[in-house]
Parts: sequence; C-alpha cells; structure tokens
Amino acid sequence: MPIPGVIAIDGPGASGKNTVGLILAQRLGYRFLDSGAMYRALTWQALQMAIDFADEALLERLAASMRIEVTAADLAHPHGGLLLDGADVTPQLHRPEVDAKVSLVAQISGVRRILVAQQRSIAAEDGIVVVGRDIGTVVLPEAGLKLYLDAGAPARARRRHAELLAGGDLIAYEEVLAALEQRDAIDSQRIGSPLRPAPDARIIATDQLTAAEVADLVLQPCQN
Ligand code: CDP
Repeated sequence: MPIPGVIAIDGPGASGKNTVGLILAQRLGYRFLDSGAMYRALTWQALQMAIDFADEALLERLAASMRIEVTAADLAHPHGGLLLDGADVTPQLHRPEVDAKVSLVAQISGVRRILVAQQRSIAAEDGIVVVGRDIGTVVLPEAGLKLYLDAGAPARARRRHAELLAGGDLIAYEEVLAALEQRDAIDSQRIGSPLRPAPDARIIATDQLTAAEVADLVLQPCQN
C-alpha cells in the first residue's frame, strides 16, 4: 500500500492520538497538526478575557478575530507549538481550567466552522498528519488513511495523570478520570461533529500498546 498523503487520527482524550500522530509524522517526514490545540487556544483566550462561556456569539467572534499559527516541533515544543496573535501560548493549553471549559467552546457550531476552515487550509498540501475528534468524519473526509484510537477510560486517565505529574501538576487520579469522562460525554453527545469513528476508519484499541507499537502496526502495510 502506498503511503497516504493525508493521515487523519481521531479518538477520545489520552487515547494516544497525539503521540502516535507525532511518531508517524516524524517517521514519514510529514507535518503535524493537533487540531485540539486550536480549540484549547481559543478557550485560553476566552478565560484571559473573562468571557461568559454561555455567550456563543461572542466566542464565535473571538474565534474569527484570533490569529492562530501552528509551529513545527522544536526542543522547547516537542509536540509543536501554537502562537496566538504572535504570542507563544503552548504551555497554557493543557492547564486544568482550559480542560474544564474546552468541550463547551468546541460544541459551538460557529466556532467549529471557523476553526475547521483553518484546519482544512493548513492540510491543503499533502504530507500531513492531522489529529482530533472529527478529522476523518468532517474536516478531511477524503484523507487517504483514517485511524480511530480508543482505550478504556481508566487506561487513558492513568496516561494523562502520569503526563500531568511529570509536568509538575499535583492532581489526583480521580480528578483526571472525572474530567476526561466529562469531556468524553460532551464530545460524543454534541449535535455537530460528535466524536465517532468514520465508517472507513481503522479502529485500534491502544490499552495494551505503546505509541510506537501502534505506529508500527499502522505503517506495516505501507512497507510491504
Ligand atoms: O489531548 P486530548 O485528546 O485530551 O484533547 P485535545 O485533542 O487537545 O482536544 C481538546 C478538546 O477540544 C476536546 O475534548 C474536544 O472538545 C475539542 N476538539 C474538538 O471538538 N474537535 C477536534 N478536532 C479537536 C478537539
């Protein structure tokens, strides 16, 4: 099988999408786009401005006015960076207060319209791995390879908890599990672009696999 020019990876929080996506992008020499970072950047900006999260029209206007630039991975940003109106907000994107609100922001259809258009324009050129919730279903339904990574909530919460502890966030495991489950519920039950596998996606359970093992599994058919 030839290597597809566009690879879409979807799945719930901490299912391994970003790590697997980055490994694939590095191995193939592709660009990498974490679409979740865009929803997180908007949420961070709204928190800074103390915007009412019920004010959907205002959040949509904010999305339209923000200038988001996605930067390639470097030593300081091993997962790639994000500039918001020129300022590096990468370290703020995974703060607990962003986590708590991002799914509310992401369910606003006007916000999605604006960010999806930006994601499509970034992915217009081949040689890219794009990661998110609706990439295979809505953003890039023509992607040559679609993956849907999944794992049970406890396995995902353990991973996210370890990441947060490593970053110096002394948060309890139970709190991480509850926040993930709350986000899963909003993301999969929303009306527009809910989290679900595309009909032609390859579904991979990652509970027992490392990210490198998932990447091997995915690339195997391309090497034969
Ligand atoms: O890293 P994790 O998978 O936990 O989250 P993320 O990919 O950074 O996405 C954060 C949130 O943004 C998700 O919980 C969704 O609410 C939203 N999101 C979305 O709606 N559509 C996308 N394509 C990507 C993220």
